[in-house]
Amino acid sequence: MGIESSAHTFGVGIVDNGRMLANEKMMYDVGTHGMIPAKVAETHVKNAGTVIETALGKAKVSMREIEGVGYTKGPGIGACLQIGQLAAKTIAIGLGVKITPVNHAVAHVEITKHESKMKDPIALYVSGGNSQILKLAQTPFPHYQILGETFDVGVGNMLDAFAREIKLKPAWGSTVAKLAANGRYVEMPYTVKGMDFAFTGLLTYASELAGKRSNEDLCYSIQETSFSMLCEATERALLLTNSDELELCGGVAQSSRLQEMLRSVCKEHGMRFGVAKNEYNADNGGMIAYVAERMLKKGASETIAKCDIQQKYRIDKAVVV
Ligand code: FE2
Repeated sequence: MGIESSAHTFGVGIVDNGRMLANEKMMYDVGTHGMIPAKVAETHVKNAGTVIETALGKAKVSMREIEGVGYTKGPGIGACLQIGQLAAKTIAIGLGVKITPVNHAVAHVEITKHESKMKDPIALYVSGGNSQILKLAQTPFPHYQILGETFDVGVGNMLDAFAREIKLKPAWGSTVAKLAANGRYVEMPYTVKGMDFAFTGLLTYASELAGKRSNEDLCYSIQETSFSMLCEATERALLLTNSDELELCGGVAQSSRLQEMLRSVCKEHGMRFGVAKNEYNADNGGMIAYVAERMLKKGASETIAKCDIQQKYRIDKAVVV
């Protein structure tokens, strides 16, 4: 069983030898106020039991049949991470089974790699809080090396912040995408340095144009500019590393426009492009269960005393088992 609680989602997944038996979740309603950590954590506490029971029912297994448990150690919001960690520890102690902390970003990359049947892809991991270009490296230990990343905010949070600026309704990112469909391009700041990128200049510029250009034009332009930046940096990473596979993962991977742009980059170079089903791009417990099962089978468990959370648990610090 895998438990995810790093942000607004409390998710529980159950896997059996890599086969997903259940992937259930309940989400905190961000409304127009965004995420207030204590409120999100309170909602997770309220929902935890229901989500665990629903997942067991869907998987048609009893709690007694759970052979190990994993939870999201980070990165994420401290108050939220605590809830999943506590639920997992309670299960591990109650059932007398092994437990392992899982890096949230590793889980996104690994579930997509599995779903897309890729061997050694470059991964573009894009979500609210993260935007990174990654590749598996073996030294000094197996980990995802960060080839490129955002200098400031994640692309998802940038689009959400802009949507709030022009008073759109949640879900902000997808509302931007809808308006973008009828927009015309306005030139905007484009910041790529090698394989790194930055988004706050773009956000400030687009926000200053609010009311001066139509929301459709601004949404189209901020989306096209930020996604083009991601495509340029990713294309550079693919070519520099001689890679022939690209996977797209994380919450923003649900964007059909970003998928389309990266697919065309891959097509131009004869590379494979892969993206998982949306249920795995959004936060979910299934990906945590998938990675936890593999870790536990290879003996990578942790003692209860050493099971902690880490809000800024960077992907390159996590051992990939
Ligand atoms: Fe995520």
